[in-house]
Amino acid sequence: MAQLLSSSCSLTISSGNKPYFKPFDQCSTAFSTHFACRTTPSSFRKISLREEKPHRSFSVCATAVSSRQEASSQTSSGSHPSSSEPSKPQRVMVIGGDGYCGWATALHLSNKGYEVAIVDNLIRRLFDNQLGLDSLTPISSIHNRISCWKSLTGKSIELYIGDICDFGFLSESFKSFEPDAVVHFGEQRSAPYSMIDRSRAVFTQQNNVIGTLNVLFAIKEFREECHLVKLGTMGEYGTPNIDIEEGYITITHNGRTDTLPYPKQASSFYHLSKVHDSHNIAFTCKAWGIRATDLNQGVVYGVMTDETAMHEVLCNRFDYDGVFGTALNRFCVQGAVGHPLTVYGKGGQTRGYLDIRDTVQCVELAIANPAKPGEFRVFNQFTEQFSVNELAALVTKAGEKLGLNVQTKSVPNPRVEAEEHYYNAKHTKLVELGLKPHILSDSLLDSLLNIAIKYKDRVDTKQIMPTVSWRKIGVKTKTVTA
Ligand SMILES: NC(=O)c1ccc[n+]([C@@H]2O[C@H](COP(=O)([O-])OP(=O)(O)OC[C@H]3O[C@@H](n4cnc5c(N)ncnc54)[C@H](O)[C@@H]3O)[C@@H](O)[C@H]2O)c1
Repeated sequence: MAQLLSSSCSLTISSGNKPYFKPFDQCSTAFSTHFACRTTPSSFRKISLREEKPHRSFSVCATAVSSRQEASSQTSSGSHPSSSEPSKPQRVMVIGGDGYCGWATALHLSNKGYEVAIVDNLIRRLFDNQLGLDSLTPISSIHNRISCWKSLTGKSIELYIGDICDFGFLSESFKSFEPDAVVHFGEQRSAPYSMIDRSRAVFTQQNNVIGTLNVLFAIKEFREECHLVKLGTMGEYGTPNIDIEEGYITITHNGRTDTLPYPKQASSFYHLSKVHDSHNIAFTCKAWGIRATDLNQGVVYGVMTDETAMHEVLCNRFDYDGVFGTALNRFCVQGAVGHPLTVYGKGGQTRGYLDIRDTVQCVELAIANPAKPGEFRVFNQFTEQFSVNELAALVTKAGEKLGLNVQTKSVPNPRVEAEEHYYNAKHTKLVELGLKPHILSDSLLDSLLNIAIKYKDRVDTKQIMPTVSWRKIGVKTKTVTA
């Protein structure tokens, strides 16, 4: 049942100094749950959601017991590569570490010996409550996830719960954790969400652009040497009728030649927020000498990584709904529950895709090979490109092998986009750094379909069809009806 988007909902955290910890009801192992909670001078314990300001007053800071002493004995690829000092694990702040890509990355980096802190305001979980959505896979609270990881591996992950748009909170997190690298996943990342109505469009751009700007100021103020690894999207480029380069293109115009940022043609208020982020980052690299890598990521599929597969409490989220679900993940769920695969329009829309195991690999490669001071480096982060029709055909074939009768249906395209177009995007820079891609295979499709079949009782089929129209967006705050 879809929820009223226009209604306010508020959550209040008790005024005690400790966050609320749920027992491990999904865990067979008894995990230690020793968290200490710190609050910043600017923090207050109220989490609220209102129409115009979905999360601006969200500013609770909690942190797990410091991992500094415990991690000091670890040696791994997380060490500074060329330091003459005794090897010291690099400290990586993962903003958005409770989300789909961020959680898998935080665990992967922790496993590789980096000291990791997660910064997240948990707003993604709030969006689910707001829209009446849920992950296909049951996901545990961030506190339970981190405690489970500690019990299984002995590795600690620090936790700072708060909004990066609150500069006081972000400053305290930076001063406390002292990151060598910041991986920034912490944005509203759904194009349909940004196209629901005016308030969601405004929220998306405020949240994303101001959050990133605050991260840039925090680096300048507190950690000048810190390398920013920022998640952008291939959607920033749009679908030009020429090859897409990695960030820059050399142009000769009226007899003069220059290498310029590749033109951006974003196709939603979300994608436009990413374009603005890229411009702000490029400017601060030039003006302040910030070192940054913009990872223009393709569409991510899959749910398991080596780390999230270790225990069900570590399980990652898997979105299949029309607002947050991404193409291949959605098709696998649709195939598993006997819903026709929802191809938008002609289905010739072609994009870059990658396995979530490659997302974590790419981020690790970017951190281990940092940009130079003042460098704005752009990598196209995907491994293969497919049209929507090609994906539907692959899922149909894989479904047949499992005895599923998978049908495909063309539905009116809710987006404004070319449905047949040229697409050839370069993606060599991460491979040059050592990326070993996981190519989409029959076995991966089998396993994705099997996960979808395993959890098919959790599927709310009303959430599958797209309900957000690019053309119908208006001023009025909308309720998304299933
Ligand atoms: N998932 C994909 O297919 C995909 C593709 C291309 C790019 N990306 C980019 O990768 C990043 C991560 O995507 P994802 O799929 O993991 O998204 P997600 O929504 O699952 O995770 C984002 C996390 O950031 C947190 N967050 C949002 N705003 C915040 C704020 N102001 N302060 C603190 N935390 C905040 C959310 O609570 C959430 O946990 C995004 O920037 C997205 O644009 C994702």
